[in-house]
Amino acid sequence: MQTSAASAEPPRPAATGLTGHRRFLNACACQSVDRPPVWLMRQAGRALPEYRALRQKHSFLELVQTPELAAEVTLQPVRRFGFDAAILFSDILVTAEGLGQKYRFDDNHGIRMDFSFHSAADLSRLDARALPERLQYIPRALRLVKAALGEQTALIGFAGSPWTLATFMAEGGSAEKYTRALGLFRKDRKTYFELAEKLTAAVIAHLQMQIQAGVDAIQIFDSHGGLLAPTEFQEASGRWIRQIISELRTSTLRSRATAEDGPNSELPIIVFSFGTHGNWDDLLATGADVLGIDWRFPLADARRLLPCDVGLQGNLVPALLSDATAETVAAESSRLLEVMRGRNGHIFNLGHGVPPEAKLENIAALVETVKNFK
Ligand code: CP3
Repeated sequence: MQTSAASAEPPRPAATGLTGHRRFLNACACQSVDRPPVWLMRQAGRALPEYRALRQKHSFLELVQTPELAAEVTLQPVRRFGFDAAILFSDILVTAEGLGQKYRFDDNHGIRMDFSFHSAADLSRLDARALPERLQYIPRALRLVKAALGEQTALIGFAGSPWTLATFMAEGGSAEKYTRALGLFRKDRKTYFELAEKLTAAVIAHLQMQIQAGVDAIQIFDSHGGLLAPTEFQEASGRWIRQIISELRTSTLRSRATAEDGPNSELPIIVFSFGTHGNWDDLLATGADVLGIDWRFPLADARRLLPCDVGLQGNLVPALLSDATAETVAAESSRLLEVMRGRNGHIFNLGHGVPPEAKLENIAALVETVKNFK
């Protein structure tokens, strides 16, 4: 520390003693924090014994669609690890369900949908009008979670991007390769755009329900953005995410600012797009407050390339949680914290979701390392 008169600049007040809720929102706004907030994509789920115990008794969809169970599963990782933010236990495919394309989860085959979207003739099978009614279980679950978290822990709502939803809907569920939506986009652009328009409207409606139920932030998962060529990304994915964010900002945020929340109308939006490292300008143009950085891109390069008023979330290699020792996880977490030292707006996370085989002691080592960072 310097002691000379030349450094008479008053020290910035250290943001100590923050709640997880405040720490997370400050970081999303690139304001100062005592240490980076931490939460993990897919923090709820199969890595936790308490989740597996519930799954013995209930199907995946029962957990998602029963508000008390979805709330319980959402809270499990927060209780165990003390994350700064919770993410609703749900799925991106509920938006397809809201449109009329139902899905279920099969332990052997992954996601199975009632039909696949092949061509223009299938557009009439998708209708957003019943979505709020069909997805009533989501705001109910969110209100239970919100009441349990109080002002201690932030609550994140989410949706898939139109492009990523289209990849699942075109295959009719999980697939080895997601080529059908690419075919639609490349061979029948008109139908792809009509589908993307319907999905954009459905995602907006789905996110507005979550905002009204009190979420503190939104994450948009564009997990399949990297299937596109960089030259295709903007037309297939980026522009629809941008439309969603601009609509949420103008409609919902305005009504929030004038309602009971008063001036506290901040609602950060995080965009996590996987494998789209040739599209930083398109991702910035979505209007996201925070960009998720996947594990295939060096965080130091993200820091160098991206403007400092945009938050950066990430990006520990997820497989370290299952394959490495707790010491390695701690060392790699420290390295990432050092890479971001002094840069406001770092939200510690993985570079994709928690693997089902993650070791509990490795998750604990990650969280402790972030919490002890000075
Ligand atoms: O992050 C969380 O803790 C919240 C819950 C959450 C789930 N899915 C629960 C889930 C979230 C945020 C999602 C998002 C999601 N769903 C994405 C985007 C994130 C990503 O990983 O890229 C995607 C692509 C889906 C679609 C989906 N859901 C697939 C492909 C599968 C089957 C493959 C798999 O991971 O098992 C699911 C099922 C699913 N969603 C499970 C969980 C916990 C597994 C269900 C179980 O075995 O109990």
